[in-house]
Amino acid sequence: METLTSRMQAVQSPLIPIIAELIRSNPGTISLGQGVVYYDPPPEAIAFLSQFLANPENHKYQAVQGIAPLLEALEAKLKADNGIEINGQSCIVVTAGSNMAFMNAILAITNPGDEIIIQTPYYFNHEMAIMMASCHPVLVATDENYQLCPKAIAQAITERTRAVVTISPNNPTGAVYSEEALREVNQICRDRGIYHISDEAYEYFTYNGVKHVSPGAFSQSSEHTISLYSLSKAYGFASWRIGYMVIPEHLLSAVMKIQDTILICPPVISQYAALGALQVGVGYCKEKIGAIASVRQLALDSLKRLEGLCTIAPADGAFYFFLKVHTKLGAFELAERLIREHRVAVMPGTTFGMDDGCYLRVAYGALQKETAAEGIERLVRGLQTILGSENS
Ligand SMILES: Cc1ncc(COP(=O)(O)O)c(C=O)c1O
Repeated sequence: METLTSRMQAVQSPLIPIIAELIRSNPGTISLGQGVVYYDPPPEAIAFLSQFLANPENHKYQAVQGIAPLLEALEAKLKADNGIEINGQSCIVVTAGSNMAFMNAILAITNPGDEIIIQTPYYFNHEMAIMMASCHPVLVATDENYQLCPKAIAQAITERTRAVVTISPNNPTGAVYSEEALREVNQICRDRGIYHISDEAYEYFTYNGVKHVSPGAFSQSSEHTISLYSLSKAYGFASWRIGYMVIPEHLLSAVMKIQDTILICPPVISQYAALGALQVGVGYCKEKIGAIASVRQLALDSLKRLEGLCTIAPADGAFYFFLKVHTKLGAFELAERLIREHRVAVMPGTTFGMDDGCYLRVAYGALQKETAAEGIERLVRGLQTILGSENS
């Protein structure tokens, strides 16, 4: 059959599977590529599966919005950890991961041709979701430390703009946005009658005493703020596919239509596991994040040796560093050479929309300390060798 053209032709292909294939064909490669954590879900999450199995009704479809006890547990979590009150103006929808929550949000608030403002470097699945919905991602640059530029955001708003997206703590840069900047963006959205979509997948991953702030907690924000959360990182839940969104009440019926069509209901067995995880609560993640913080420090110390070859912006959150590499090489070519010649994998910045210059994302959340130390060492030596030969 002749290849059909569809909206998907305009959508970029994610680079992660290509990097994964390169890793497979170069055995012994240490991956500083994928954004996952090193730890598993708490045992309490698995223990809760017996409650799922105890009730045969659980094998049938359940509520589109999520099971009642999980919605209740999430309401308590949002109040305690984020300062978000679920009152008559907003509600929670459980999703199969927060990527799905983002897609739900975009489909619920747009018509084809509408614009969504995202910051560069962007999270590639956000850009892809916007394209899939036949909308236009409008790219607004962050500053030299990858912090928000509220004035530039305000200037990019047109009559077709439906939302501004912020991710804090950020993937791919690790930047944590200040309360002041988030308040400014949230206020701009309120004044201009558009939504603020706040992706908080890394809400617990901050370092050096830096605080995460949830725009959904600002006063008078509930009518125009969509907050997205995930258990994937915090609870080592990536494959269980549980996320959730806090949306203004007026979007509920649209989101329910989307979710009913695409998912019917979030996997009920995973919702039970999530209930178990939430009973343990944030203490579980905080304890695990201690080890990631020490890998982060180790990485920072080693990366200092790249001074002059790379610029590394301050990054107080998530588990990423975003390196600007001073080279004429393309980011993909450099990433490929690092795998083939030095057995270490990082993500090229082009996948995050950084086409002007060479950038690499280093992810440090997935490895034990010794492996991470070896991986960073290979990265530092690899970059010194490749860039050194370029200049000689
Ligand atoms: C900013 C951001 N949002 C969402 C996700 C996806 O999370 P989930 O597994 O809940 O779909 C990721 C995963 O890397 C992410 O970095």
